[in-house]
Amino acid sequence: MAIQWFPGHMHLTRKAIAERVKEIDVVVELLDARLPGSSANPMLAALTLGKPSLKVLNKQDLADAACTELWLAHYNALPGTQAIGLDASVSTPAQKIIQACHALAPARGSMSKPMRVLICGIPNVGKSTLINTLTGKRAAKTGDEAGITKLEQRITLADGFYLFDTPGVLWPKIIVDRSGFNLAASGAIGRNAFDEQEVALELLHYLKQRYASQLERRYKIDAAGTLQDEDLLAGIGRNRGAVQRGAKVNLQKAAEIVLMDFRSEALGRISLETPEEFAQWLAQGQALEAARLESKKSRGRAPGAPGGT
Ligand code: G4P
Repeated sequence: MAIQWFPGHMHLTRKAIAERVKEIDVVVELLDARLPGSSANPMLAALTLGKPSLKVLNKQDLADAACTELWLAHYNALPGTQAIGLDASVSTPAQKIIQACHALAPARGSMSKPMRVLICGIPNVGKSTLINTLTGKRAAKTGDEAGITKLEQRITLADGFYLFDTPGVLWPKIIVDRSGFNLAASGAIGRNAFDEQEVALELLHYLKQRYASQLERRYKIDAAGTLQDEDLLAGIGRNRGAVQRGAKVNLQKAAEIVLMDFRSEALGRISLETPEEFAQWLAQGQALEAARLESKKSRGRAPGAPGGT
């Protein structure tokens, strides 16, 4: 079943971005390096009026390095766009960000013409961690939980270089089913919004095609063979002691183990999508969304319906 999630606070974020954007030179979008396409927000380009864009592939330490290279090349080939990889272990993230922003807006960055940068990203992508490193303190989250409203934060990265953080959450409408599963697997979606067994099965389905040896190393199971996803999950559960009375495998526990092992890098460095795969999923998702909207429109035109004949 497709996953949808509405974390709230979106109106606040949209308003904050719309108010700020006129005075912004570069928009920094933090993406999860394991799932750059799925963790991006297509709404952002429109909201930020097509301003130069720096894609930061964050948590690169968890992602498949070869796949991250593909994504960096993909973004760097887009007009008005630069991309860099980053993770919490990089001790000088400011340097990387400043350099990339200068390449995008070379006329800015002096005291008379300061560089003003807006930073955005979906929940859990590592925005607070990065901002804490940039400010050198343990700042609190910028209000992505219901009821928390914080003032917009301005961070001075260097003389004439300001980074603006916006409160609230900007969350994409998920029109690509795979994106929903990948976001859930990564930990970006609230626990109650998805079925862990379903997400673990989808994850295993992908991993056994691309990362079978990593599954085999961790779970001592023939992942590259002919096992169906359900049997693979059951086998993992059995091997990891997720067994209940009557020697029955506890599939819920097995699913939790798989998700935790993926998130904590116990399975090794893994990426869940290549630019090519994501482009295909997106084209399918857009076609389905267009058909859905068309059918909704024609239902609205049905005889007897308002606007119908
Ligand atoms: P957010 O503000 O975008 O919501 O994300 P936040 O910084 O809170 O980070 C979400 C989780 O991701 C945290 O883990 C954080 O430690 C982890 N994280 C952030 N950046 C990186 C990175 O570059 N690499 C890796 N591997 N992890 C990163 P947590 O378990 O939710 O919290 P905590 O126990 O670490 O505090």
